[in-house]
Amino acid sequence: MFGLAQHAMPASSTPLKLWFTEEYGAAHLMDDRSNIIPRLSGNFLTGRRFLRRAENVSGHSRTRLPQQRVYAGQRSSLVQTPLPAESESFMSADKSTSWSYAEDLPAEDDVLLRARERSFELGVTPISPGVGAVLTVLAAASKAQTVVEVGSGAGVSGVCLLRGLSPQAVLTTIDVDVEHLKAAREAFLESGSPANRTRTISGRAADVLPRLTDSAYDLVFIDADKPNFPKYVEQAVRLLKSGGTLVINDALDKDRVSNPAARDATTVVLRQIGKAIRDDDRLASAMLPTGDGLLVAVKK
Ligand SMILES: C[S@@+](CC[C@H](N)C(=O)[O-])C[C@H]1O[C@@H](n2cnc3c(N)ncnc32)[C@H](O)[C@@H]1O
Repeated sequence: MFGLAQHAMPASSTPLKLWFTEEYGAAHLMDDRSNIIPRLSGNFLTGRRFLRRAENVSGHSRTRLPQQRVYAGQRSSLVQTPLPAESESFMSADKSTSWSYAEDLPAEDDVLLRARERSFELGVTPISPGVGAVLTVLAAASKAQTVVEVGSGAGVSGVCLLRGLSPQAVLTTIDVDVEHLKAAREAFLESGSPANRTRTISGRAADVLPRLTDSAYDLVFIDADKPNFPKYVEQAVRLLKSGGTLVINDALDKDRVSNPAARDATTVVLRQIGKAIRDDDRLASAMLPTGDGLLVAVKK
């Protein structure tokens, strides 16, 4: 079993044992009890670098690495390799501090803070401040005129989107809960947005989205009802104009997506969506680690 302190050792010291899960191309560094050691795990780029390095050191190709076992349904290979030096800079122990710093950096005003309070009172989880900042940037960068949001909540994300949009742009926001929509409208009003800039639709997204016009929207933001994300993504691709942006919140599902041992239904759906979007020729995509993971894609 390897203790955490050992991970900081320089490249030249004692070799580490690494178990790789092959399906995800990630180096999940595990001890012999299959405990994933988070600091070096779940990072796809680092995983590939590790694997190449491991192949060089062991003299085996990827498919012929000695000693294999099945871990959480995935074939895993055991190799011993010095810890590559680049992993020190890529995955330093300060990563979570940097994440927190990035989340704390946006300065939210009273409008957003009040919307957060109302979210709390209604039992709704709003987007994080970091996600809010990204939404404002994406809305502004894409010069979006027409935006659809699935999951209005108490309006935190809506206010962030509106702040990136031009005065002529219109936000269509959908929520199944009328109390949430009322709170969202209050936030939009407080933010100084005229009522004709927002269209609030009460209903289930699965019923409302199919009624919206093909190729008429510049940005679609999905933040509700994770099990049905695949349906919403398909609808979003239909709704988006060429050059339009799709944004999916909570795409890393509380850091469970990167852990192959996490096989609950929602996590599996989100993992599949990440791959399906990555492999979809109609889209160019990126996974941002902001908040709980923000999957961003542009329709080509
Ligand atoms: C995570 S909250 C959205 C938070 C919001 N985006 C924000 O940042 O303030 C999810 C919202 O989706 C709504 N919702 C849940 N299932 C839904 C569905 N099937 N269709 C539409 N809205 C749904 C909930 O009522 C809730 O307000």
